[in-house]
Amino acid sequence: MINVTKAYLPDIDQYYQLIKRAWDKSWLTNNGELESRLKEFLGVKHLYFCSNGTIALQIAIKALGIKGEVITTPFSYVATTNALLWEGCTPVFVDIDPDTFCIDPDKIEASINSETTAILATHVYGYPCNIEKIELIARKYKLKLIYDGAHAFGSQFSGRSLLSFGNITTCSFHATKLFHTAEGGCIITNNDETAEQIRLIRQFGHHYDEYHRPGINGKNSELHAAMGLCILDDLDKILEDRKRATQSYSSLLEGTQLTRKLVGLTSFEYNYAYYPVLFESEEQLLNAVQRLNNDKIYPRRYFYPSLNTLPFINYTRCSVSEDIASRVLCLPLFYGIDESDINRICRHLKMSL
Ligand SMILES: Cc1ncc(COP(=O)(O)O)c(C=O)c1O
Repeated sequence: MINVTKAYLPDIDQYYQLIKRAWDKSWLTNNGELESRLKEFLGVKHLYFCSNGTIALQIAIKALGIKGEVITTPFSYVATTNALLWEGCTPVFVDIDPDTFCIDPDKIEASINSETTAILATHVYGYPCNIEKIELIARKYKLKLIYDGAHAFGSQFSGRSLLSFGNITTCSFHATKLFHTAEGGCIITNNDETAEQIRLIRQFGHHYDEYHRPGINGKNSELHAAMGLCILDDLDKILEDRKRATQSYSSLLEGTQLTRKLVGLTSFEYNYAYYPVLFESEEQLLNAVQRLNNDKIYPRRYFYPSLNTLPFINYTRCSVSEDIASRVLCLPLFYGIDESDINRICRHLKMSL
Protein backbone atom coordinates (compact mmCIF):
# COMPACT_ATOMS: atom_id res chain seq x y z
CA MET A 1 0.00 0.00 0.00
CA ILE A 2 1.33 3.46 -0.90
CA ASN A 3 -0.24 6.43 0.83
CA VAL A 4 0.01 10.06 -0.15
CA THR A 5 2.46 10.53 2.68
CA LYS A 6 4.39 8.55 5.24
CA ALA A 7 5.71 10.02 8.47
CA TYR A 8 9.48 10.36 8.58
CA LEU A 9 10.91 8.51 11.56
CA PRO A 10 14.37 9.37 12.87
CA ASP A 11 16.88 6.97 14.35
CA ILE A 12 15.10 5.37 17.32
CA ASP A 13 18.25 5.36 19.49
CA GLN A 14 18.70 9.10 19.01
CA TYR A 15 15.04 9.60 19.88
CA TYR A 16 15.41 7.38 22.92
CA GLN A 17 18.40 9.41 24.15
CA LEU A 18 16.32 12.58 24.12
CA ILE A 19 13.36 10.92 25.77
CA LYS A 20 15.72 9.54 28.40
CA ARG A 21 17.07 13.04 29.03
CA ALA A 22 13.53 14.31 29.67
CA TRP A 23 12.89 11.22 31.81
CA ASP A 24 15.98 11.75 33.92
CA LYS A 25 15.03 15.37 34.57
CA SER A 26 11.33 14.52 35.08
CA TRP A 27 10.77 17.45 32.73
CA LEU A 28 8.05 16.67 30.23
CA THR A 29 6.56 19.98 29.22
CA ASN A 30 7.14 23.75 28.96
CA ASN A 31 9.67 25.52 26.80
CA GLY A 32 12.55 23.22 26.05
CA GLU A 33 15.34 23.21 23.55
CA LEU A 34 13.25 22.83 20.38
CA GLU A 35 12.07 26.45 20.35
CA SER A 36 15.58 27.88 20.48
CA ARG A 37 16.88 25.42 17.87
CA LEU A 38 14.01 26.32 15.53
CA LYS A 39 14.46 30.06 16.04
CA GLU A 40 18.08 29.74 15.08
CA PHE A 41 17.39 27.41 12.17
CA LEU A 42 14.65 29.63 10.72
CA GLY A 43 16.31 32.95 11.59
CA VAL A 44 13.25 34.33 13.39
CA LYS A 45 12.98 36.36 16.57
CA HIS A 46 10.08 34.66 18.39
CA LEU A 47 8.75 31.15 17.94
CA TYR A 48 6.25 29.34 20.12
CA PHE A 49 5.89 25.57 19.91
CA CYS A 50 2.20 24.65 20.05
CA SER A 51 0.02 21.56 20.31
CA ASN A 52 -0.91 21.74 16.61
CA GLY A 53 -1.18 24.08 13.64
CA THR A 54 -4.87 24.78 14.19
CA ILE A 55 -4.49 26.10 17.73
CA ALA A 56 -1.50 28.07 16.41
CA LEU A 57 -3.84 29.84 13.97
CA GLN A 58 -6.43 30.47 16.68
CA ILE A 59 -3.86 31.92 19.07
CA ALA A 60 -2.48 34.08 16.23
CA ILE A 61 -5.95 35.50 15.55
CA LYS A 62 -6.49 36.19 19.27
CA ALA A 63 -3.03 37.68 19.81
CA LEU A 64 -3.58 40.25 17.04
CA GLY A 65 -7.06 41.10 18.35
CA ILE A 66 -8.66 40.20 15.03
CA LYS A 67 -12.44 40.45 14.85
CA GLY A 68 -15.07 41.02 12.15
CA GLU A 69 -14.36 40.18 8.52
CA VAL A 70 -11.14 38.50 7.49
CA ILE A 71 -10.07 38.17 3.86
CA THR A 72 -8.95 34.61 3.30
CA THR A 73 -8.34 31.95 0.70
CA PRO A 74 -10.83 29.26 -0.33
CA PHE A 75 -7.93 27.01 -1.38
CA SER A 76 -6.49 25.74 1.89
CA TYR A 77 -7.11 23.03 4.43
CA VAL A 78 -10.35 23.40 6.38
CA ALA A 79 -8.35 24.30 9.52
CA THR A 80 -7.65 27.76 8.06
CA THR A 81 -11.36 28.58 7.80
CA ASN A 82 -12.26 26.74 11.00
CA ALA A 83 -9.79 28.79 13.00
CA LEU A 84 -11.50 31.99 11.84
CA LEU A 85 -14.97 30.66 12.58
CA TRP A 86 -13.90 29.32 15.97
CA GLU A 87 -12.54 32.76 16.85
CA GLY A 88 -15.85 34.39 15.90
CA CYS A 89 -14.57 36.00 12.69
CA THR A 90 -16.32 36.01 9.32
CA PRO A 91 -14.23 34.53 6.52
CA VAL A 92 -14.50 36.51 3.29
CA PHE A 93 -13.22 34.35 0.45
CA VAL A 94 -11.16 35.91 -2.30
CA ASP A 95 -10.41 33.72 -5.30
CA ILE A 96 -6.97 32.31 -6.05
CA ASP A 97 -4.33 32.88 -8.69
CA PRO A 98 -4.59 30.01 -11.22
CA ASP A 99 -0.78 29.72 -11.42
CA THR A 100 0.26 29.66 -7.76
CA PHE A 101 -3.07 28.47 -6.26
CA CYS A 102 -2.50 31.10 -3.54
CA ILE A 103 -4.90 34.00 -2.89
CA ASP A 104 -5.03 36.38 -5.86
CA PRO A 105 -3.71 39.71 -4.55
CA ASP A 106 -5.34 41.63 -7.40
CA LYS A 107 -8.78 40.55 -6.17
CA ILE A 108 -8.29 41.41 -2.49
CA GLU A 109 -9.04 45.15 -2.52
CA ALA A 110 -12.52 44.69 -4.00
CA SER A 111 -13.52 42.71 -0.89
CA ILE A 112 -12.24 45.16 1.71
CA ASN A 113 -14.84 47.21 3.59
CA SER A 114 -15.16 48.94 6.96
CA GLU A 115 -15.60 45.58 8.72
CA THR A 116 -12.39 44.10 7.35
CA THR A 117 -9.66 43.72 9.95
CA ALA A 118 -7.19 41.22 8.58
CA ILE A 119 -5.91 38.97 5.82
CA LEU A 120 -5.24 35.27 6.41
CA ALA A 121 -3.46 33.72 3.43
CA THR A 122 -1.96 30.25 2.91
CA HIS A 123 1.39 29.49 1.25
CA VAL A 124 -0.11 26.62 -0.75
CA TYR A 125 2.04 23.45 -1.00
CA GLY A 126 4.98 25.48 0.38
CA TYR A 127 4.98 28.01 -2.49
CA PRO A 128 4.84 31.68 -1.48
CA CYS A 129 1.81 33.91 -1.81
CA ASN A 130 2.50 37.16 -3.61
CA ILE A 131 4.05 38.56 -0.44
CA GLU A 132 5.00 41.99 -1.84
CA LYS A 133 1.51 42.81 -3.10
CA ILE A 134 -0.31 41.41 -0.07
CA GLU A 135 1.89 43.33 2.35
CA LEU A 136 1.30 46.57 0.44
CA ILE A 137 -2.46 46.07 0.66
CA ALA A 138 -2.29 45.20 4.37
CA ARG A 139 -0.30 48.35 5.03
CA LYS A 140 -2.56 50.58 2.90
CA TYR A 141 -5.75 49.46 4.70
CA LYS A 142 -4.10 48.93 8.13
CA LEU A 143 -5.03 45.26 8.15
CA LYS A 144 -3.33 42.60 10.25
CA LEU A 145 -1.64 39.91 8.19
CA ILE A 146 -1.32 36.24 9.08
CA TYR A 147 0.21 33.62 6.83
CA ASP A 148 -0.80 30.01 7.28
CA GLY A 149 2.60 28.47 6.63
CA ALA A 150 1.54 24.90 7.48
CA HIS A 151 3.31 23.70 4.32
CA ALA A 152 6.16 26.18 4.27
CA PHE A 153 8.79 24.77 6.62
CA GLY A 154 12.10 24.65 4.72
CA SER A 155 11.02 26.98 1.89
CA GLN A 156 13.10 30.15 1.50
CA PHE A 157 11.93 33.39 -0.05
CA SER A 158 14.14 36.45 -0.63
CA GLY A 159 16.87 34.81 1.41
CA ARG A 160 14.58 34.32 4.43
CA SER A 161 12.51 31.48 5.74
CA LEU A 162 9.04 31.66 4.18
CA LEU A 163 7.80 31.38 7.77
CA SER A 164 9.14 34.81 8.68
CA PHE A 165 6.64 37.12 6.95
CA GLY A 166 3.50 38.99 8.00
CA ASN A 167 2.54 40.01 11.54
CA ILE A 168 2.47 36.31 12.30
CA THR A 169 3.11 33.09 10.40
CA THR A 170 1.90 29.78 11.75
CA CYS A 171 3.10 26.30 10.87
CA SER A 172 1.91 22.73 11.38
CA PHE A 173 4.23 20.01 12.63
CA HIS A 174 1.73 17.22 12.06
CA ALA A 175 3.20 13.79 11.29
CA THR A 176 2.38 14.19 7.58
CA LYS A 177 4.54 17.30 7.26
CA LEU A 178 8.16 17.16 6.13
CA PHE A 179 9.30 18.49 9.50
CA HIS A 180 7.11 17.15 12.27
CA THR A 181 6.71 16.45 15.97
CA ALA A 182 3.98 13.78 15.55
CA GLU A 183 1.41 16.42 16.50
CA GLY A 184 2.44 20.03 16.82
CA GLY A 185 2.80 23.42 15.26
CA CYS A 186 4.28 26.83 15.93
CA ILE A 187 3.61 30.54 15.86
CA ILE A 188 6.28 32.91 14.57
CA THR A 189 6.53 36.67 14.87
CA ASN A 190 9.30 39.21 14.79
CA ASN A 191 7.30 41.69 16.90
CA ASP A 192 7.99 41.79 20.66
CA GLU A 193 4.52 42.92 21.77
CA THR A 194 2.75 40.36 19.61
CA ALA A 195 5.13 37.73 20.98
CA GLU A 196 4.21 38.64 24.54
CA GLN A 197 0.50 38.20 23.78
CA ILE A 198 1.15 34.84 22.09
CA ARG A 199 3.20 33.66 25.05
CA LEU A 200 0.43 34.60 27.48
CA ILE A 201 -2.47 33.21 25.46
CA ARG A 202 -0.68 29.91 24.82
CA GLN A 203 -0.25 29.46 28.56
CA PHE A 204 -3.69 30.11 30.09
CA GLY A 205 -3.23 33.90 29.95
CA HIS A 206 -0.98 34.12 32.98
CA HIS A 207 2.66 34.41 33.84
CA TYR A 208 3.33 32.83 37.22
CA ASP A 209 0.93 34.62 39.60
CA GLU A 210 0.09 37.48 37.25
CA TYR A 211 -3.16 36.89 35.42
CA HIS A 212 -3.42 39.10 32.34
CA ARG A 213 -6.13 37.76 30.01
CA PRO A 214 -8.16 34.65 29.25
CA GLY A 215 -5.90 32.15 27.60
CA ILE A 216 -5.80 28.54 26.55
CA ASN A 217 -3.41 25.65 26.89
CA GLY A 218 -1.71 25.59 23.50
CA LYS A 219 1.66 24.25 24.64
CA ASN A 220 3.30 21.04 23.57
CA SER A 221 5.46 18.46 25.35
CA GLU A 222 9.12 17.47 25.52
CA LEU A 223 8.13 14.07 24.16
CA HIS A 224 6.93 15.72 20.96
CA ALA A 225 9.85 18.15 20.94
CA ALA A 226 12.28 15.21 21.03
CA MET A 227 10.89 14.02 17.70
CA GLY A 228 11.38 17.51 16.25
CA LEU A 229 14.96 17.77 17.53
CA CYS A 230 15.88 14.47 15.87
CA ILE A 231 14.18 15.39 12.60
CA LEU A 232 15.80 18.82 12.50
CA ASP A 233 19.19 17.08 12.45
CA ASP A 234 18.03 15.05 9.41
CA LEU A 235 16.40 17.89 7.51
CA ASP A 236 19.00 18.30 4.75
CA LYS A 237 18.76 14.60 4.01
CA ILE A 238 14.95 14.78 3.97
CA LEU A 239 14.85 17.77 1.60
CA GLU A 240 17.40 16.15 -0.70
CA ASP A 241 15.40 12.95 -0.95
CA ARG A 242 12.12 14.76 -1.59
CA LYS A 243 13.86 16.71 -4.34
CA ARG A 244 14.98 13.41 -5.90
CA ALA A 245 11.39 12.09 -5.86
CA THR A 246 10.02 15.37 -7.22
CA GLN A 247 12.49 15.37 -10.10
CA SER A 248 11.59 11.77 -10.92
CA TYR A 249 7.90 12.61 -11.09
CA SER A 250 8.59 15.65 -13.24
CA SER A 251 10.75 13.81 -15.72
CA LEU A 252 8.37 10.85 -15.99
CA LEU A 253 5.34 13.10 -16.44
CA GLU A 254 7.02 15.51 -18.83
CA GLY A 255 5.01 16.01 -21.98
CA THR A 256 1.69 15.22 -20.26
CA GLN A 257 -0.72 17.95 -19.24
CA LEU A 258 -0.24 17.04 -15.56
CA THR A 259 2.90 18.95 -14.61
CA ARG A 260 2.87 22.64 -13.87
CA LYS A 261 5.68 25.12 -14.03
CA LEU A 262 5.50 28.18 -11.84
CA VAL A 263 6.85 31.00 -13.94
CA GLY A 264 8.18 34.26 -12.56
CA LEU A 265 8.91 32.83 -9.14
CA THR A 266 12.28 34.34 -8.27
CA SER A 267 14.37 34.37 -5.08
CA PHE A 268 12.69 31.18 -3.99
CA GLU A 269 13.95 27.82 -2.78
CA TYR A 270 11.34 25.10 -2.58
CA ASN A 271 10.94 22.55 0.21
CA TYR A 272 9.39 19.82 -2.01
CA ALA A 273 6.44 19.51 0.33
CA TYR A 274 3.88 18.22 -2.21
CA TYR A 275 3.59 16.97 -5.76
CA PRO A 276 0.23 18.21 -7.07
CA VAL A 277 -0.97 17.30 -10.56
CA LEU A 278 -3.82 19.00 -12.36
CA PHE A 279 -6.17 17.00 -14.58
CA GLU A 280 -8.26 18.37 -17.44
CA SER A 281 -11.49 17.46 -15.69
CA GLU A 282 -12.78 16.01 -12.44
CA GLU A 283 -13.90 12.94 -14.37
CA GLN A 284 -10.35 12.34 -15.57
CA LEU A 285 -9.09 12.78 -11.98
CA LEU A 286 -11.62 10.28 -10.63
CA ASN A 287 -10.58 7.75 -13.28
CA ALA A 288 -6.95 8.14 -12.27
CA VAL A 289 -7.78 7.80 -8.56
CA GLN A 290 -9.76 4.62 -9.26
CA ARG A 291 -6.93 3.16 -11.26
CA LEU A 292 -4.36 3.98 -8.55
CA ASN A 293 -6.62 2.73 -5.74
CA ASN A 294 -7.04 -0.58 -7.60
CA ASP A 295 -3.28 -0.97 -7.25
CA LYS A 296 -3.41 0.05 -3.54
CA ILE A 297 -2.00 3.51 -4.21
CA TYR A 298 -3.77 6.30 -2.36
CA PRO A 299 -3.11 9.86 -3.54
CA ARG A 300 -5.10 12.66 -1.92
CA ARG A 301 -7.52 15.22 -3.25
CA TYR A 302 -5.90 18.14 -1.48
CA PHE A 303 -7.24 20.71 -1.13
CA TYR A 304 -10.75 19.55 -1.69
CA PRO A 305 -13.39 20.88 -1.51
CA SER A 306 -12.92 24.59 -2.13
CA LEU A 307 -13.63 26.08 1.31
CA ASN A 308 -16.21 28.61 0.06
CA THR A 309 -18.44 25.62 -0.72
CA LEU A 310 -18.41 24.16 2.82
CA PRO A 311 -21.95 23.49 4.04
CA PHE A 312 -21.57 25.80 7.08
CA ILE A 313 -20.37 28.78 5.00
CA ASN A 314 -22.45 31.42 3.21
CA TYR A 315 -21.54 30.53 -0.35
CA THR A 316 -19.80 33.12 -2.53
CA ARG A 317 -18.51 32.06 -5.90
CA CYS A 318 -14.74 31.53 -6.32
CA SER A 319 -14.62 30.00 -9.77
CA VAL A 320 -10.85 29.47 -10.01
CA SER A 321 -10.59 27.78 -6.62
CA GLU A 322 -13.65 25.61 -7.23
CA ASP A 323 -12.25 24.55 -10.58
CA ILE A 324 -8.73 23.78 -9.30
CA ALA A 325 -10.07 21.95 -6.22
CA SER A 326 -12.13 19.67 -8.48
CA ARG A 327 -9.12 18.74 -10.66
CA VAL A 328 -6.04 18.68 -8.41
CA LEU A 329 -4.50 15.57 -6.91
CA CYS A 330 -1.47 15.28 -4.62
CA LEU A 331 0.69 12.28 -5.49
CA PRO A 332 2.51 10.16 -2.90
CA LEU A 333 5.63 12.02 -1.81
CA PHE A 334 7.68 11.14 1.24
CA TYR A 335 11.22 10.41 2.33
CA GLY A 336 12.42 7.13 0.85
CA ILE A 337 9.65 6.63 -1.72
CA ASP A 338 10.97 4.04 -4.21
CA GLU A 339 11.78 4.99 -7.76
CA SER A 340 9.94 1.85 -8.87
CA ASP A 341 6.80 3.06 -7.07
CA ILE A 342 7.09 6.50 -8.68
CA ASN A 343 7.39 4.74 -12.04
CA ARG A 344 4.32 2.65 -11.30
CA ILE A 345 2.30 5.71 -10.23
CA CYS A 346 3.27 7.61 -13.38
CA ARG A 347 2.40 4.64 -15.59
CA HIS A 348 -1.09 4.53 -14.09
CA LEU A 349 -1.49 8.28 -14.51
CA LYS A 350 -0.46 8.23 -18.15
CA MET A 351 -2.80 5.34 -18.90
CA SER A 352 -5.70 7.17 -17.30
CA LEU A 353 -5.36 10.29 -19.47
C1 LIG B 1 -2.84 24.68 5.24
C2 LIG B 1 -3.05 24.05 6.59
N1 LIG B 1 -3.40 24.82 7.63
C3 LIG B 1 -3.58 24.33 8.86
C4 LIG B 1 -3.42 22.98 9.11
C5 LIG B 1 -3.69 22.45 10.47
O1 LIG B 1 -2.56 21.92 11.10
P1 LIG B 1 -2.71 20.81 12.24
O2 LIG B 1 -3.12 19.54 11.58
O3 LIG B 1 -1.33 20.72 12.83
O4 LIG B 1 -3.72 21.30 13.23
C6 LIG B 1 -3.06 22.13 8.07
C7 LIG B 1 -2.90 20.69 8.33
O5 LIG B 1 -2.76 19.86 7.47
C8 LIG B 1 -2.87 22.67 6.77
O6 LIG B 1 -2.53 21.90 5.73
